[in-house]
Amino acid sequence: MRKIIIAIDGYSACGKSSTAKTVAKALNYTYIDTGAMYRAVTYYFMEVKFISLTNEKEIQRALGEIDLDFRYNAKTMMNEICLNGASIEHEIRKMSISEKVSEVSTLKQVRQFLVAQQQKMGKRKGIVMDGRDIGTVVFPQAELKIFMTADIMERAKRRQQELLAQGQLVPLEEVLDNLKKRDFIDSTRTESPLKQAVDAVVVDTTYVTLDEQVEYILQLFNATIARQIQGQS
Ligand code: DC
Repeated sequence: MRKIIIAIDGYSACGKSSTAKTVAKALNYTYIDTGAMYRAVTYYFMEVKFISLTNEKEIQRALGEIDLDFRYNAKTMMNEICLNGASIEHEIRKMSISEKVSEVSTLKQVRQFLVAQQQKMGKRKGIVMDGRDIGTVVFPQAELKIFMTADIMERAKRRQQELLAQGQLVPLEEVLDNLKKRDFIDSTRTESPLKQAVDAVVVDTTYVTLDEQVEYILQLFNATIARQIQGQS
């Protein structure tokens, strides 16, 4: 079976991870949530080591102490991010991490550290990776690139529901504010800002169900494979 890389980039809370996860399952591909990796580093920096984000030496030292991997949890039936062997899936979704993650993601040392690991994970292809710079920086050669977007109010409502499902009741205004702040930092930072790759297909999820998004991406996947086969014959 031919294997490709599917890169899914886009704004926070527009359905990237649910879509990527379902597409990966349908294709029997590996799903990698790179946002979870930035969140895990943020958690270590801010809630374990309390380091200063302007001290490059401290940052480098802390990065050297971080070992990240994804492990399957049979109970939740989910791949969970582990930091030095322990799952921190729940901790990284807290608002305190969301408040800091965009700032940590602007750091060049952090990006180099994580991008190298992400590129290694995609070596054998057969991967669906979501994030902000996957189609532009991590895998500019990805065979299929998607850029997801949605109306900000819709995104805020969806994120609020996700938080509620995890037991966190956060006012809509606060969620909306956080998304706006993160959109701004993510798209204006110097190091690999969020932007649409020229060869990405835009998917606006405002009025589209998860099933429809997945169906559309699977159609694009089939078309990509068909093109590859044609190109070889
Ligand atoms: O996908 P998410 O909301 O969990 O991502 C959290 C933050 O991580 C997001 O605000 C920006 C950063 N991020 C990034 O800079 N590059 C990526 N490839 C993925 C996430």
